[in-house]
Amino acid sequence: MTTFHIGSYTVKRVGFGAMQLPGPGVSGPPRDHDQAIAVLKRAVELGVDHIDTAQFYGPDVANELIREALHPYPENLALVSKVGARRDGEGNWNAAQEPDELRADIEENLRTLQTDRLAAVNLRIHSGDPNSVGPVQRDLFDRQLTAMIAARDEGLIGGIGLSSVSVEHLKIALDRTEIVTVQNAYNLVDTSSQPVLDLTTEHGISFVPFFPLGSGFSADNPVLGNPAVKQAAADLGRTPAQIALAWTLSVAPNVLLIPGTSSVAHLEENLAVDDIELPAGFAP
Ligand SMILES: NC(=O)c1ccc[n+]([C@@H]2O[C@H](COP(=O)([O-])OP(=O)(O)OC[C@H]3O[C@@H](n4cnc5c(N)ncnc54)[C@H](OP(=O)(O)O)[C@@H]3O)[C@@H](O)[C@H]2O)c1
Repeated sequence: MTTFHIGSYTVKRVGFGAMQLPGPGVSGPPRDHDQAIAVLKRAVELGVDHIDTAQFYGPDVANELIREALHPYPENLALVSKVGARRDGEGNWNAAQEPDELRADIEENLRTLQTDRLAAVNLRIHSGDPNSVGPVQRDLFDRQLTAMIAARDEGLIGGIGLSSVSVEHLKIALDRTEIVTVQNAYNLVDTSSQPVLDLTTEHGISFVPFFPLGSGFSADNPVLGNPAVKQAAADLGRTPAQIALAWTLSVAPNVLLIPGTSSVAHLEENLAVDDIELPAGFAP
């Protein structure tokens, strides 16, 4: 499988996103604890060297499962987390955007994952809506970057990432420091972050689309249910998920995938996509 880099880590282009491991609504323990552990172990067995997580998945649950399944971690495993949100007792996703909250969240990730350094941490700009990019609040953003730079310079994180950002955020950040990864929503029916993706390609920064399969939130999945995707899957003897992932990989060489799943069978499917040649003229 081809590779790309997240700062000093070279990773395969298909990794794993841990958001589907906790219980329904990304809250509480998994429906099947042993299955969640099996997914993580199988991922690494199949060569996954990039896992995306967050303290607020569960909360705490995804990180604890990763530690239980994989610690002590393989040396080449890039563990990437994100900060900027906090869950409440009702499962709401609230902002935790102040610099001291970002710092506390980084330290909490290190503690629960039982590691002294993460490959990268994404500063996730909070808009209140997972599908939209947060606005630039210049004073806050400058203070957030200062906190992220301090965490990197002190060695807590290998590199700084940004999530749910605009081109403007990325340009401001690049004027101040190195950015090693960007994580925005992007898939074959939502390419609204294309300008951000283009800028990362130009700068040689990894772009990690979230919701590559249309997310686990809606029953009516716009990606897996897309007619062109279903047709290509039938023509090539693959699954719609594999077609969607192959398309996303084909968009640019700096795209790194982190499809999320709680199923070993789906994981195995998702990792077998780099050899897929999409039909000529494929367009969702
Ligand atoms: N930066 C951010 O703000 C942000 C936001 C959201 C997510 N993320 C990260 O991005 C990762 C990916 O996003 P996501 O997990 O939300 O959504 P996703 O990868 O687009 O889709 C996950 C959904 O697809 C299903 N699925 C996975 N593989 C499948 C397959 N081969 N066939 C059929 N269905 C399949 C999963 O169900 P099963 O469990 O049944 O397989 C789940 O319902 C997350 O895990 C997380 O690490 C980041």
